[in-house]
Formats: sequence, structure tokens, C-alpha cells
Amino acid sequence: MPYIRNPVRKRVRDSTPLRPIHILLYFGEVDSNSVKGQEWYQENDVAETYDDKRFSDGGRFIDQREKEAVLDALGPVEDKRILEVACGTGRFTVMLANRGADVVGMDISEAMLEQGRQKARAAGVADVLSFMQGDAGRLPFPDDHFDAVFAMRFFHLAPDPEGFIKEMRRVSTERVFFDTFNRYSTRSIYNWALPMGSRLYSGREARELIVGAGLELADASHDFVVPYGFYRAVPEWVARPFRRADTTLGRTLFGDRIASVSYWNARVPE
Ligand SMILES: C[S@@+](CC[C@H](N)C(=O)[O-])C[C@H]1O[C@@H](n2cnc3c(N)ncnc32)[C@H](O)[C@@H]1O
Repeated sequence: MPYIRNPVRKRVRDSTPLRPIHILLYFGEVDSNSVKGQEWYQENDVAETYDDKRFSDGGRFIDQREKEAVLDALGPVEDKRILEVACGTGRFTVMLANRGADVVGMDISEAMLEQGRQKARAAGVADVLSFMQGDAGRLPFPDDHFDAVFAMRFFHLAPDPEGFIKEMRRVSTERVFFDTFNRYSTRSIYNWALPMGSRLYSGREARELIVGAGLELADASHDFVVPYGFYRAVPEWVARPFRRADTTLGRTLFGDRIASVSYWNARVPE
């Protein structure tokens, strides 16, 4: 089966029984690379520890910045119809529901969605949002169904970013927003050590993606000269001065050039 070729896949194979999703991924017409981000997040232990590992301690600064980026890109969200693709544990879905958006969170992993449902219940918004399982490559919605569609921390997993962004554009009438991890940045230094690596993008590649999907770039911002991995690894009080310096550096052209993350805000042409 395609998913046992690398160590991560082997780990998944060795430590878990065969699940329906694995069979689906094998027999479905899915490129073997495309399963890496899918199968990893199927695991309950990965889903249960996802937020804690990334967004506690110094990682709070990452969560905060990503939420700001989403809100900046979407503008006022009350009553807006919004789709979050690859919503994971629903960090943004729940935030948007709290602000009055009519929001759907979609993800391929039932384990991640379950974390999202718990979060929505805890926040008292379980009745005003929906979570559904689905594949970003084939969004189960008609054309122009949403005002805005976005995906965070997803394009680095994408085997077919062109296909994914075209699907996002197809179901959106106004806005498509996503982030990328950048090739010419500190991210590339430790990328090899990550369990499933990441697809890194140059600014040119990201712009070509946007234009290729028939979208217009409305705005781009760049951040995190100090990579996520550092923030995740240190307590908040250590991370704080680094974040301050990072933000200051990020306001310069040089900081933009070497930032490890970019946020791409694209509009659907009239
Ligand atoms: C790094 S997590 C990001 C989750 C969330 N967007 C966040 O920022 O916290 C990547 C997510 O992409 C989901 N995913 C991977 N491939 C997918 C696909 N083809 N369709 C939908 N979701 C997918 C995974 O299940 C996982 O929840």
C-alpha cells in the first residue's frame, strides 16, 4: 500500500489497525504523496495533543497571530457564509462562529473534527456551526456557495496545491485566504526533521497559484523570522521578547524577505 513507504507511514502502519480511511485512501484515486498529511491526523493521539503541542507556552503567539491574520483577511464576519478547509481542531471555526459567522469547518480527519466539536461545545457555539468530513480536493458544495473560503496550515501538506486552490475559488464568491511556509527562510533549516516534511513555497510560486486559480492578490503579509518550532519549544516568558523582536524585524523589507510564513489574501474578480 502506498502509505507504508516512509517512516511516518510505517509508524502509522505498525501502531494502528487498518482503518476504513486507509482503505479509502488506497483505493481512492489519491496520489500516494497526498496521504501524508491525511493519515497522520487520523490518529486520536495526534488529534488530542494537536493544540497543546503547538499553541501552549510560546506557541500562544503563533495561535494569536494566525487568528489575527484570518480576521484581517475576512473583515467583518457576522452573517458571512464561510468555509474553513482542513479546519483541524476548529481553532478558527469556533472563533468565527463566536463572532456571528455562518461557518462550516471541513476536514478529512474525523479525529481532528471530534476535537473541534468538543471545542465548539465548550464555547457554546455547537449549534451555530457545522463540522463535516470531506476532502479538500473535491469540496462537496456547489459553485459560489460561500462568501469566503480559507485554509490555514494546509498548503504545506498539499500534493496538488493548484487543484486545492481551484476548488476553494470555485465555491467562493468573494475571498480565498491561505498561508504558506516559505522556501527561503529558517523553515527550510529544520524542515527535514519534521515527521512529514513540508512543501515550501517561494513568493513567486504562491503568486502563480493565486493567478492560476483565476484569483487576484489583494494583500500579502509575512511573519515569523523566528520559526514556529522555536516558539513551540519555549515557555511564554522566553518567547515574548523574541516575538517582540520578530515583529519589529517583520516590519522591514528584509524581515519580509526571510519570514517563514506568508498569509495570502486573494479576491475573486467581479
Ligand atoms: C496542520 S493541520 C491544520 C489544522 C488547522 N487548519 C489549524 O490551523 O490548526 C492540517 C489539517 O489538514 C487536514 N487535511 C489533510 N489533508 C486533507 C484533505 N485532503 N482534505 C481535508 N483536510 C485535510 C488534516 O486532517 C489536518 O487536520
